[in-house]
Amino acid sequence: MNNLKKEKKQFISDFKVGSIADTIFVVSKKQIRKKKNNEDYCIVTLQDKEGSIEGVIWTEVFRNSDDFSEGDFVLVKGDIRQYRSSMQLVINSISKIENKEDIEYSDFIRATKKNIDGMFSEIKSYIDSIKNSYLKELLDLYFKDKKFVEDFKNATAAVRYHHAYRGGLLEHTLVVTKICNMLTGVYDNLNRDLLISGAILHDIGKIREYKTGVTIKVSDEGKLLGHITIGYGWILEKIKKIKGFPRDLSERLLHIILSHHGQKEFGSPRRPKFLEAFIVYHVDHMDADIGGYNIILEESKDGEDWSGFAKNFERSIYLKKLKLINENEENTDNKINKTDENNLNQNKKILNQPDKQDELF
Ligand SMILES: [Fe+2]
Ligand SMILES: [Fe+2]
Repeated sequence: MNNLKKEKKQFISDFKVGSIADTIFVVSKKQIRKKKNNEDYCIVTLQDKEGSIEGVIWTEVFRNSDDFSEGDFVLVKGDIRQYRSSMQLVINSISKIENKEDIEYSDFIRATKKNIDGMFSEIKSYIDSIKNSYLKELLDLYFKDKKFVEDFKNATAAVRYHHAYRGGLLEHTLVVTKICNMLTGVYDNLNRDLLISGAILHDIGKIREYKTGVTIKVSDEGKLLGHITIGYGWILEKIKKIKGFPRDLSERLLHIILSHHGQKEFGSPRRPKFLEAFIVYHVDHMDADIGGYNIILEESKDGEDWSGFAKNFERSIYLKKLKLINENEENTDNKINKTDENNLNQNKKILNQPDKQDELF
C-alpha cells in the first residue's frame, strides 16, 4: 500500500451500531467458512488497544481482498451493525499493511492500565518478607533472573476472559498475593511463607503457556501441557537446584500449584487438601471472576444494563450502575469514602503492610 498514513484514527471504544469504520487493526483471528452454496467467506477478530471486534467479510469482498494472516496489520473499511447481542463489523474493504515502519504498536497492544514497575516492586517486597530460607532462595532463582523478570512483567494471564493483556499476569498475581497476605491476618493457623510463595508462583506456567506479542497466542507447550503442568515441572526443576530443600515443603508448594483450579474438570490434577491450598484456590477464582467482570464491563457500551451471553460465566452479566437514594447529597459519598479509608488504614496497621496504594479495597 502506498502513501498510507499509518496513524490510528478510530478505536474500538468509539464504535456504536451505525458507525462507519475506517481505520487500522491487527488481525488476532481469521477463520475461513463456507456458505451453503460452498462459497467462502471470512470471519475475523480485529484488535486494537481498546479491545476486539468481530468482522465478517462476505464472499465478493473476500475474493477481492489482499491475502492476510493472523498478526497482520490491516486497513479496514466497513459498517458497524448489531449481530445477536454484540456489534459486528461488516467489512467492505480490507487491505494488508506491508510496510509497518510507521505503525505505533502501542495503539494495538492491550496492556494493563496499572504501572508495571510499581506492581513488580510490590511483588518484590512480598518476596523480601519471606523468612523461610528455602522458599526465599526458590523465589530469588526466578525473580533475580533478568530474562524471567522481563517475561513475567510482559505476560498475560489469559487469551481472553480475565487479565488478557500485557502485564495481566503481574496484575493478577499481585492481587492474589495481597489478598492471601491479608488473610494471614484473619486466620491465625496459616503458614504465611508457604501461602505467599504459592500465591506468587501459582500461575508462572502462563509465561510459557502464552506468547504475548501484538496478539496473544497459546504456545505449543501451552497447548500440550497447560500452565499448571508447566508450572509444576518448572518449580520442581528449580527446587532440585536448592540443596536440602525439605521434601514436605516441596510437596506442599507443588500441591498448591497443582490444585489451584480447585476441580479436576477445571484443569487441576489434584483438589486442594490443606488450608494454604484452599486459600490460593478461592482467591485465584475470585480474582479471575472479578477480572472477567471488568473486561465485560470495559467492552460493553454505555447504557447497557446487561451483557450478552458471557461464555466464561455461562450467563449474562448485570452491568447497570447502582444508584444510591442519597447520591445527590454530596456528603454521603464522602462519608462512605471516609469510612473505607479508615477501614483501609486500620487493616494496614493490623497486617503491618507497607504503606502503598492498596487496590484491594
Ligand atoms: Fe491458573
Ligand atoms: Fe491465577
